[in-house]
Amino acid sequence: MFFLVNLLHFSHYFFFLDLPVNITILGPGAVGSLWACYLQKAGHNVSLWTRSSTPSELSLSLNAKDNSSHSFSCNDKDSLIHCDLLFITVKAWQVESALLPLLPLLSQETILLFMHNGMGAIDAIKAHINHHPVLQATTTHGALKESSHTIKHTGMGHTVIGPFNASGNQCQFLQNVLEHSLPSIEWNPGIDIALWKKLAINCAINPLTAIHQCKNGQLSQPDINQDVIHVCTEVHQVLQKEDIEWEEIELVSMVNQVISATSENYSSMNRDCFHKRKTEIDFITGYLLQKAKQHGISTPINETLYNQIKQLEENLL
Ligand code: PAF
Repeated sequence: MFFLVNLLHFSHYFFFLDLPVNITILGPGAVGSLWACYLQKAGHNVSLWTRSSTPSELSLSLNAKDNSSHSFSCNDKDSLIHCDLLFITVKAWQVESALLPLLPLLSQETILLFMHNGMGAIDAIKAHINHHPVLQATTTHGALKESSHTIKHTGMGHTVIGPFNASGNQCQFLQNVLEHSLPSIEWNPGIDIALWKKLAINCAINPLTAIHQCKNGQLSQPDINQDVIHVCTEVHQVLQKEDIEWEEIELVSMVNQVISATSENYSSMNRDCFHKRKTEIDFITGYLLQKAKQHGISTPINETLYNQIKQLEENLL
């Protein structure tokens, strides 16, 4: 199905054909592995691209009870060269180093779909990728890599996809490809609004849960919840300047809903600090601070949290 993008203009017909799509997942961590399993279950040709070049095959089982194990080729150049869709699920800070070396192998028609926490990573490499159709996505599905071979789908969620560039805007048909694999999917031409809202939630939850080394639910305790609200007040000022229409009260209420819905979970930044890994802070709070500076807004609380996480990273790494 290498000619997928040649069919862009006929994509509505392509759909009815219901043909398998050649997909490579770059970065099969928890989220990437979850999508790999569901996309393969739906009949697509899925291969993986990992950091290490050693394994040529990887089997993954989705949820411990699921007997069906999914087998994928790994780091197979031929699959990469012929992929219609490169689904990039590495962390924001890995995007540049993971993707740039692969670009010479790709057809210009390969669709690039990015899914990660935070903002700014794609802008940084825009000049290298703008000849591809580029899409962005954000999801609320919960996934946990229980072992190198087992993925747990910890919570059903919703995924929003939308275009990053003009040719990405012709790829709405991907909504159906993904919908048949892991629903529900929403096509949103103004994806930036969804990304900003996710970033706002991450600014409020991730640094605090990493600094206090606590589960998300602990942020509902009155003393820490005060900090959550102060973060939201600053974030809201930036959102206003970015023309994101979201009342502060709605933002706080959404953050508290996420805290309660994920109360038993550890945030991704909490886990990164716990496992002594680099965090996504530069693309979450760091991105917010950059935008605040451009708009001349003072954000002392977010600055303090940013510096605390950078300090933690320095001590841990
Ligand atoms: O990064 C995370 O962990 C998640 O995006 C969220 C929403 C904070 C829930 O843990």
